[in-house]
Amino acid sequence: MSVHVIILAAGEGTRMKAGRPKVLQEIAGKSMLSWVLEAVSGASPNRTVVVVGHEAEAVVEVLPEGVETVLQADQLGTGHAAGLAMDFLDPGDDDTIIVVPGDAPLLTAEMLDDLIGSHPGNAVTVVTTHLDDPSGYGRVLRGDGGVTAIVEHADADSDQLAVREVATSVYAFSAEALRSALGRIDSHNAQGEQYLTDAVGLLVGDGKSVGAVMAADLPVVGVNSFDQLAAAADVMRRRINVAWMRQGVMMDDPSRTYIDATVVLSAGARIFPGTHIEGSSSVGAGARVGPDCHLHDSRVGEEAVVRYSVLDSAEVQARAEVGPYAYLRRGSVLGPEAKAGAHVELKNTTLAAGAKVPHLSYIGDATVGEDANIGAGSITCNWDGYDKHHTTIGARARIGSDTMLVAPVEIGEDGWTGAGSVITHDVPPGSLGVERSPQKEIPDYSDKRRKRAESDQ
Ligand code: UD1
Ligand code: MG
Repeated sequence: MSVHVIILAAGEGTRMKAGRPKVLQEIAGKSMLSWVLEAVSGASPNRTVVVVGHEAEAVVEVLPEGVETVLQADQLGTGHAAGLAMDFLDPGDDDTIIVVPGDAPLLTAEMLDDLIGSHPGNAVTVVTTHLDDPSGYGRVLRGDGGVTAIVEHADADSDQLAVREVATSVYAFSAEALRSALGRIDSHNAQGEQYLTDAVGLLVGDGKSVGAVMAADLPVVGVNSFDQLAAAADVMRRRINVAWMRQGVMMDDPSRTYIDATVVLSAGARIFPGTHIEGSSSVGAGARVGPDCHLHDSRVGEEAVVRYSVLDSAEVQARAEVGPYAYLRRGSVLGPEAKAGAHVELKNTTLAAGAKVPHLSYIGDATVGEDANIGAGSITCNWDGYDKHHTTIGARARIGSDTMLVAPVEIGEDGWTGAGSVITHDVPPGSLGVERSPQKEIPDYSDKRRKRAESDQ
């Protein structure tokens, strides 16, 4: 006997009004369909087939190797979709078929294991859950305790609408029972669709054994709208954050801490509220990130501190300091104990160990040597209007406040620049480069100026 999984993912998701396939909407950095696939693969099925239709090419792109697809060109309903997958799979009568919707990201491998474990002996076992607000979902009808049918919201009468036990669209079928039910599903209902849910009533009518398992931990069933997507993201965020906290990560307010599933945190790290950490980012032991940071594909080393800042494909090594209000763009690398301080923007720039850009600077396309210091308000003028050019600043260099470094230009090791200079030539090691007109003083200027103003009146 084999276990096969059918994932229904051909629908457009019209209720989302988003113009892209619903199952590709993301939660914690992964599409809903990818979450479902992960849960499914945890249950180790023999074959997994995804029914695709609306924007099929985009959906197929997120599928891992080994997952098969079948095209449902016209979305005639969940029953029709399951029928196409069954024709494609052509399973043996004794095989078990798990059907899951592609829009249920909170599904877990444990839930599927429970379902498979309670299915033997049944023609179908449905997963149900209780919702305070069941509107939109299929209602589970029971008689003498057992499930007798599922009625869709659009087809339900007022008594049925009051039922709060809903279908999750997650089922285990015996292949033989599913095949026989699918042959009899019609579209004589309020939506003119072939409902897979009708299989339950049909099998009950055949006198077959129909089981149900209640998923207490599935507060959001299928996600059909952006408010349900946000509710599912909330549950996922809690799952992710609790798992990290149990591994020794401190979160001051996990309800306001947003960690993608793809991120790696180390024990001893502390994440403050308002922080989003996305993509392939990681945070090392003892590092502190937040409040109010946004990290994408960025690495924060051990004991580094990042506050109120945005990091995009940046690397902050051990004990370095970032922010408040820094913007580290693509290719920014801070060596150990380096600093990009308040209102500093870096792009494609490496600060070697101990190098500091403490305040109000833009440093782009630059290499800054060890322990160099860049004064407040300094800028690498890296773009000549057509091309980008590089700036090299040697170890221990002192760049005076408000220096404009017109690239390409190099400041040698231990070199200095005078405050307010526009540096257009290289400064040799150990030298001072200064470019500004000599200062003059006009004595008694204040008195003269006042007298002129008075005589003008
Ligand atoms: C479905 C169930 C409902 C249940 C709810 C749980 C039916 C008729 N209704 O309703 O009882 O409470 O899920 O979330 O099954 N799809 C296809 N092809 C189609 C139609 C849909 O592949 O022709 C896919 C969709 O992409 C989606 C899944 O099937 O991933 C469920 O479809 P959806 O339209 O969301 O069904 P619901 O109205 O939510
Ligand atoms: Mg749905």
